[in-house]
Parts: sequence; C-alpha cells; structure tokens
Amino acid sequence: MDSPFKPDVLRGKVALLTGGGSGIGFEISTQFGKHGASIAIMGRRKNVLDDAVSALQSLGIPAVGFEGDVRKREDAQRVVEATVKHFGKLDILVNAAAGNFLASAEDLSPNGFKTVMDIDSVGTFTMCHEALPYLKKGGPGRNSSTGGFILNISATLHYTAAWYQIHVSAAKAAVDALTRNLALEWGTDYDIRVNGIAPGPIGDTPGMSKLAPQEIDSKARDYMPLFRLGTKWDIAMTAVYLASDAGKFINGSILPVDGGLWLSRPRH
Ligand code: HXC
Repeated sequence: MDSPFKPDVLRGKVALLTGGGSGIGFEISTQFGKHGASIAIMGRRKNVLDDAVSALQSLGIPAVGFEGDVRKREDAQRVVEATVKHFGKLDILVNAAAGNFLASAEDLSPNGFKTVMDIDSVGTFTMCHEALPYLKKGGPGRNSSTGGFILNISATLHYTAAWYQIHVSAAKAAVDALTRNLALEWGTDYDIRVNGIAPGPIGDTPGMSKLAPQEIDSKARDYMPLFRLGTKWDIAMTAVYLASDAGKFINGSILPVDGGLWLSRPRH
C-alpha cells in the first residue's frame, strides 16, 4: 500500500531500531527508510540482520546491522556508538525488541517472568539510557536546539488482563511507564520526544504466529470494530507520523493502534 506521506518527511534522519530486522520492527525500518531515514538495526540473530539489511539496501535505503542483545548494557552501548560512528549521529531510537511466549501464571517460572521483563522493560530503559548522550539537543552531530525522538512499542494487553501473558502484560505496562516518565524528564531537559505505539493483534508477525490461536481470525470479527487484524503497515505509518514534524508537539503519548479492539465487548 502506498504511503500517504511525502517521501522526504524523515530526510536526513538516522534511526536505530532494536528488533528492526523482523516483524513490526522491520516494517518500521522499511518505511522510515522509504521516507528518507538511514537505518541501523540491532538484533540477536545474524542471519535475520543480514537478510533485513540486504532487503533495505535493495530499496536504496542506507542500512547497517549490528548484532546485540538489549539485555546486555555493553551491547547497547556498543551498538549505539557503532551507529553514530557509521552514520555520524543518532536522531531516532525505536525499541521494538520483545520476548514472548504463552504460559499460565501457575506454570511460568520466576525466571521466565524475569526474562521477558529483562528484554522488554529493562532492555528498553537500557537502550534509552545509552542513547541519551546522542539524542539530547547539542549532542554529537545535532544542533543545540532540537533533541531526538524515542518510540517504544508496547501493547494493549495490560489495559485489562490477558490470558497466559502475565509476564508480557507486566513488561509492556512498564514500557508505557518508561515512555511517560522519560517524556517528562527528557522532554523538559533535553527536548527529546518520547512516545509509544500500542499495537493490537497484527497479522503476519512473529507475535501473532506464536501467541494467537488460529480462531482469532474468525472470532475477531465478533469483537473488532474494524473487523480485521491490523497490518504491519498500520503500525509503521503511525511511527512515521510520530517521528516526523507532524508529530512535533506529541510527547508522552501512547497511541493504541488496534482498530478500537481494546474498547470492545461482545455484542449482546
Ligand atoms: C514457559 C518459557 C518459555 C515457554 C522460555 N521460558 N520459553 N517458559 N514457556 N515457551 C522460560 C525458560 O524456561 C527459562 O526459565 C526462561 O524463560 C529463559 O528461557 P531461555 O530460553 O533461556 O531464554 P532466551 O533464550 O533468552 O529466550 C527468551 C525468549 C525469547 C523470551 C523465549 O527468545 C523470545 O521470545 N524470542 C522470540 C521473540 C519474539 O517472538 N518476538 C515477538 C514478540 S511479539 P527457567 O526457569 O526454566 O530458567 C510481542 C507481542 C506482544 O511481543 C503483544 C501481543 C499482543
């Protein structure tokens, strides 16, 4: 589907995306690149990174991949520094890396809970923390009046409760708290905007194939106002909007992009 935005809305921007090599993260990488940004992606699997970088480059997008695990502070620091060394600066950080599996609270080990918290919540904080020196106004390669932009991908699970996803719900609730608190502190002190997107079920993603039972496609029609699963494009267009100047007064917002699903109740 064609973008409704002009192709230069992110011209000259440098973006680093964790989890940017697959799923929603890769679609955001692609759309940011198609709208003028240079793209660095961070992930744990070299083959996934290599394929993603080749795909981006074949579209004419300047792209580079760096192996790393957001759970390791030294990896976060190294990848942020390597991005700045490669492209000269950092304007946008997208935290899209996430861990997930279905497990009942009874069967989930505390280490399983901690693993997802470490990837989603602590990993997001770590990346933000290591990127701060480069994103703040007056940081390397930046002018003295404009700070960068952080986008955190969360979910809508924790707005209510979600079966067999206590670990993910807790982790994404923490991500939303990070978004608001960093928007307050770093928006005020450094002109950095920090926003979130909370996707609903999105088709053709690792999350959906891992988490959603087959019947969601048919049952969803009873619940969802827009009668369909979201697409990766829906999320990526929201990301382009928030990252562009169109979103320049948006800070600390977490935008649910789910067709209104989280509001829904069965019809009766
Ligand atoms: C129960 C599990 C488990 C499972 C891991 N654990 N998988 N418990 N069921 N299926 C437990 C382990 O038993 C262990 O605890 C602890 O978690 C760590 O496991 P490891 O395998 O050592 O961890 P690691 O190799 O680091 O892998 C962690 C991982 C990650 C979370 C499984 O590899 C992963 O999920 N990768 C997939 C990425 C992905 O699908 N991303 C898309 C996310 S979609 P013990 O006690 O045994 O030591 C998404 C959408 C959310 O986030 C919103 C949906 C609407």
